[in-house]
Amino acid sequence: MTIKEALASNKPIDDITICGWVRTRRDSKGFSFLSINDGSCLANIQAIIDDGIPGSESISMATTGSSVKLKGQLVESPGKGQSFEIKALEIEVTGSADDTYPLQKKGHSPEFLREIAHLRPRSNLFGCVFRTRSRLAYAIHQFFQEKGFVYVHTPIITASDCEGAGEMFRVTTLDGNETDKENDFFGKPTYLTVSGQLEVETFACALSNVYTFGPTFRAENSNTTRHASEFWMIEPEMAYCNLEGDMDLAEEMIQYLITDTLENCAEDLDLFGKFVDKGLMERLHSVSSQAFQRISYTEAVKILEGAEMKFEYPVEWGMNLQTEHERFLTEEHFKSPVTVHDYPKSIKPFYMRVNDDGKTSAAMDLLVPGIGEIIGGSQREERLDVLIKNMENHNISREDYSWYSDLRKYGTVPHSGFGLGFERMLMFVTGVANIRDVIPFPRTPGSADF
Ligand code: 4AD
Ligand code: MG
Repeated sequence: MTIKEALASNKPIDDITICGWVRTRRDSKGFSFLSINDGSCLANIQAIIDDGIPGSESISMATTGSSVKLKGQLVESPGKGQSFEIKALEIEVTGSADDTYPLQKKGHSPEFLREIAHLRPRSNLFGCVFRTRSRLAYAIHQFFQEKGFVYVHTPIITASDCEGAGEMFRVTTLDGNETDKENDFFGKPTYLTVSGQLEVETFACALSNVYTFGPTFRAENSNTTRHASEFWMIEPEMAYCNLEGDMDLAEEMIQYLITDTLENCAEDLDLFGKFVDKGLMERLHSVSSQAFQRISYTEAVKILEGAEMKFEYPVEWGMNLQTEHERFLTEEHFKSPVTVHDYPKSIKPFYMRVNDDGKTSAAMDLLVPGIGEIIGGSQREERLDVLIKNMENHNISREDYSWYSDLRKYGTVPHSGFGLGFERMLMFVTGVANIRDVIPFPRTPGSADF
């Protein structure tokens, strides 16, 4: 039985087996106390090991970090701090740990724990983070499945560059001296995907409402707390949906995910609220219940130009909004999440739908306090002639992307979608400030350990 199940039973159990890792041991005359954690929940369980029970002769090996298996009874605890404890009838020290075990009782900094990413899941903070990550992934599938969206597995190896930013990792079997691309494994240059969007669009143009949820890779050299080289993205795509429907879905999803986390990760959130981000709970409750703001890019630029704050990058119409601008809008000006829509066409990729003004695209970014952009999406260009013009302007090969333009040639439909950065969502619901601390094994420029 897991410790979570044992504590939830809330009544004595005669015959119970608990396995886990020792957090602390305290020896008294005639018995020892062990505090054990198995990662099923934040709480440890206390166990009393009387001298003389089978296995008790090896109790001195049950040091911090060692693994143990206990058989015994779950009994009401006479002591303070817990309502139930284990009275062991048998103990086995499965694996010892010597005094070089790096996780000691005192708290460690996230920076130190990053260097021992193979052991950090055993710390309280990372146990909470990765249980929440698991639940969040489940809630995402639940949200889309309840709405009848079809889950599509888009490829990880691809020949296309969705975002057109050229920030791709090459996948090759050629060695450094070979240059003949035709001799490469796939007979042409291939890359790790930056987004499953182009491929998932083909499924939206057949199965109507679809989503993909998988790893994506970006070789951008930005060493920030919000960028990783490998991260997970959720990308829904809807046929017969315009930008407004797209923004509606994005906002509904964020609120659904926060509500689900509040309901199902209460113990973990409590730790984040106490030790990671004191304002977390208040923010989650307000975001889950309040309507989000929506403004056009042009309105956002006006607000930023009128702001008293001095920005590192001065604002003018036509530029990409920087994180400092996004954070000003959501943290200072609106004090709530805000969706910015209709960005200048010139700063957006080829697939976005051109608005009637000819200057802007039907694009949207959802910005949240503490992070900035958490979602980027758009209505897609469904008119073949306009798409072809966009491709020419972006120097995109008609031949390589003919499968993509075919969707407009045969039964085209208006359609829209977006991408939610899974780790950024996790940062938002946990308050953890660095993306490296919400991914099991982070990959960032210059760092791919473990
Ligand atoms: O805004 P992006 O680049 O949009 C797309 O890739 C579209 N193809 C999505 C779509 O319309 N289907 O990325 C989407 C989101 C961002 O808003 C951000 O949350 C996250 O992905 N993201 C990153 N997260 C971590 N590390 C990075 N390097 C990220 N780059 C983007
Ligand atoms: Mg974006």
